This record gives sequence, C-alpha cells and structure tokens, in this order.
Amino acid sequence: MADTIVGRLVLAIWPTIDQKQRVDVLASLMLDWACMAPLVVVSGLLPYGRYGRNSKMLQINARLGWVLQELPSFVIPIYVFMTSYRTHPPTMTNLVLLGMFLFHYGYRVLVYSCSIRGGKPSPLPFFMTAMFFCTTNGYMQANYLLRHSNYPSSWIGEWNFIIGCSLFLLGFYTNWRCDVILRNLRGPGETGYKIPRGWAFELVSGGNYLGEATEWLGWALACWSPQGVAFAAFAAAFLGARSYSHHVWYREHFKDYPSHRKAFIPFVF
Ligand SMILES: NC(=O)c1ccc[n+]([C@@H]2O[C@H](COP(=O)([O-])OP(=O)(O)OC[C@H]3O[C@@H](n4cnc5c(N)ncnc54)[C@H](OP(=O)(O)O)[C@@H]3O)[C@@H](O)[C@H]2O)c1
Repeated sequence: MADTIVGRLVLAIWPTIDQKQRVDVLASLMLDWACMAPLVVVSGLLPYGRYGRNSKMLQINARLGWVLQELPSFVIPIYVFMTSYRTHPPTMTNLVLLGMFLFHYGYRVLVYSCSIRGGKPSPLPFFMTAMFFCTTNGYMQANYLLRHSNYPSSWIGEWNFIIGCSLFLLGFYTNWRCDVILRNLRGPGETGYKIPRGWAFELVSGGNYLGEATEWLGWALACWSPQGVAFAAFAAAFLGARSYSHHVWYREHFKDYPSHRKAFIPFVF
C-alpha cells in the first residue's frame, strides 16, 4: 500500500488502525486543532509576518518558506492519485473535487509564494507547523477523495455542490484579489505597512482571509465530508483569529483607519 509520512506515523502509534479509520481520526484531530487555533494565534505563540519581526528564532526566507510549507498539499494528492488510480479509478466528480483543492494549492505554491513582495522571513516553528499541517491535510483529503469515497455523477446537480462550487470560486477570487491588493501596497524594496483598500478590504481587515475561509466553506459543502468540514472549520478559526489580530494592529498603528471596517465577517465581527 502506497503511503506517506503521516500515514506511517499514525500506523506506528496505532498499528491496528486501517486507512479509512486513519483519515477519520485525522479529521477529528483537525477539529481539535480548530478549537485551539484562535488561542495560538491571538496569544502570539506562533508568530509570523508583522508579529515575527523581532523574533530571536531561526528564520527562513519568506518566498522559500511559503513554497516549501504549502508544497505537501500540492504534491501528496498527485502522488496518491498516481499510486491509486489503477486500483481505485476515481469518478469524474471525485476528480473535480480534488482538482479544486489542487487548483488552490497550485496557486499558493507556484504563483503566490513567488510573488511575495517585501515579506518578512518566517520563524522556523511557524514554518514547520505550517508544513506539518499541509502534509496532514494533503494526505487526509487525497486519501478520502481517491480511496474512500465514490461520488456519483449526479452529485454535480445537487444543491450543495452547486452552492459549494459557487462559494469556492467567489472565495478564491476574493483571496487572489486581496493578495494582489496587499502586494501592490509596497514598491520595490519597501517592507512597511499601509492601509489596504478596495474589494473585501472595504468591509473587513482580513479581506484575503475572508476569501480563503469562504473557499474552504464552499469546498466542504461541495464534498459534504467530515474531512472537508474539519478543514473548513480549521481555516475559519485560524484565519478569523488572524483577521482579528490584524484588525487590532491596524487600529493601533493608523489613526485614520476606517472606523466602519470589521475584522473578519462583514457588518458583524
Ligand atoms: N488555510 C489556512 O489555514 C491559511 C493559513 C495562513 C495563511 N493562509 C493564506 O496565505 C496567504 C498569506 O497569509 P498571511 O497570514 O501571510 O497574510 P498577511 O499577513 O495578510 O500578509 C500577506 C502578505 O502581504 C503583506 N502585507 C500584509 N498586510 C500589509 C499591509 N498593510 N501593507 C503592506 N504589505 C502587507 C505581508 O508582508 P509581511 O510578511 O511583511 O507582513 C505578506 O507578504 C493568505 O492568502 C491567507 O489566506 C491560509
């Protein structure tokens, strides 16, 4: 059985577990991480970006760090596909759902990481935690979609798939557009911060985060799986907390910060 590091690790800790149980255990673990994520972010336990500036920890270059930490979520699903498509031929619907996941991580690894402008180096503990998360999540989602689920072609006409895909696309567009807005705030060689304006930033401080959380909410709706829900919950918890931290930081650092702007959920929070 072709397997990756995460699978082998779980197997080493719990030798009698089968692979379907493994992806279910990982989904419940991820829900636990979702509960802890806001505490970790708001307490500054794993700082990066503007909060990691004075860190004494070993650091890795921003671009290299983002490529390497996100890469497992791109490469592992491709590896699982290559090693399982003969024994478990995926349906077209399974491939579409996996394709959405790969589309996001392809963007994150190949486009976003390479276009970061003036980004702060990532402290090693954050980098390693992010890489561990992307490895676990890539393993869990790929194995669920390619080995333990069989979506019929009629799934594509179901309400949850249609609404889920629409939310995914809207979320991806918002995340991409807000990433571009942030990048364009800096000229060549600049590393400081300005007030982001336009698109979702008119409503919330974490416009890029709101976009990404919407993406995974939509994907979870389209997949209708415990694994999809666990990832969406983690993304919402982590990114919601980071939006809140950014919101407080902007209000402290900019006297003219727009007062109507919320942190993460437009008009609410
Ligand atoms: N799925 C998940 O759980 C997850 C987790 C984390 C991140 N992400 C995604 O990864 C992407 C990056 O996340 P992040 O936490 O690094 O985002 P971020 O803190 O908003 O920073 C994004 C980039 O923009 C720069 N930047 C941010 N605010 C700026 C401002 N006001 N003026 C000038 N430049 C500014 C940052 O530079 P500095 O580095 O110098 O601050 C960094 O290079 C986002 O799209 C996010 O959705 C996803």
